[in-house]
Amino acid sequence: MNIVLIGAGNLATHLGTRLVEAGETVVQVYSRDISNAAELAKVLNARPFDNFHGLSAKADLYIIAVADNAIAEVVKKLGQMPFEDKLVVHTSGATPSKVFGVAPNLERTGVFYPLQTFTKGKPVSFSEVPICIDAAQPDDLQALESLGGKISDHVYKINDAQRAWLHVAAVFVNNFTNHLFEIGHSILKKQNLPFEMLLPLIHETVSKLDSGPPKAMRTA
Ligand SMILES: NC(=O)c1ccc[n+]([C@@H]2O[C@H](COP(=O)([O-])OP(=O)(O)OC[C@H]3O[C@@H](n4cnc5c(N)ncnc54)[C@H](OP(=O)(O)O)[C@@H]3O)[C@@H](O)[C@H]2O)c1
Repeated sequence: MNIVLIGAGNLATHLGTRLVEAGETVVQVYSRDISNAAELAKVLNARPFDNFHGLSAKADLYIIAVADNAIAEVVKKLGQMPFEDKLVVHTSGATPSKVFGVAPNLERTGVFYPLQTFTKGKPVSFSEVPICIDAAQPDDLQALESLGGKISDHVYKINDAQRAWLHVAAVFVNNFTNHLFEIGHSILKKQNLPFEMLLPLIHETVSKLDSGPPKAMRTA
């Protein structure tokens, strides 16, 4: 596939890199800041752009990987481009498909949501990342399933309602847990104790989840 990545942040960097590793071609990378686009484009052997007038109409897939609150704005811009028959997906767990409603002429839309926490510079084992897909048209769902299968061993067809709940569950196990770690960090800091003391406990607590459901793994 020839892919345009719209966004050059954490997700775009990880996803773009993995797609290229898997043999896909990223033709363009967009950022409002050309230097951000250029940095990622260089790694992916793609062309950077910072203005939608420079968007290629020839790609097969347009992946929107911008901040959640900017997705609608980007969809609207894509809706003004002359390529109604192209597949456009977003990568957000928290954003329903109805966001594409702002550009009703885009008929081939979908979601390609990798369920993981991605930070630039922190490697991720992508083959383990659940890729949650959805699409307005059955052929596109199949194409996204095939693309997901090239970059991960775990691809799930998930509708809007399921994805919203999945996102809530992910916030509990990731963001809330991170906040609890922060509280633990601050308690130990006040006692002049290093947070590293808690790391073996944290790692063991998490690794036990491979053996059974959370409740069964709880100890006193
Ligand atoms: N990171 C994760 O762990 C993760 C995991 C799964 C899904 N996602 C999803 O991936 C998407 C991107 O998240 P991220 O973590 O990569 O965010 P990020 O690292 O903060 O990057 C955000 C990107 O959005 C662009 N952006 C922000 N506001 C914009 C606007 N008004 N118009 C155009 N572009 C704008 C930024 O562009 P500039 O370079 O121009 O500032 C940047 O390229 C989100 O939908 C998020 O929910 C993220």
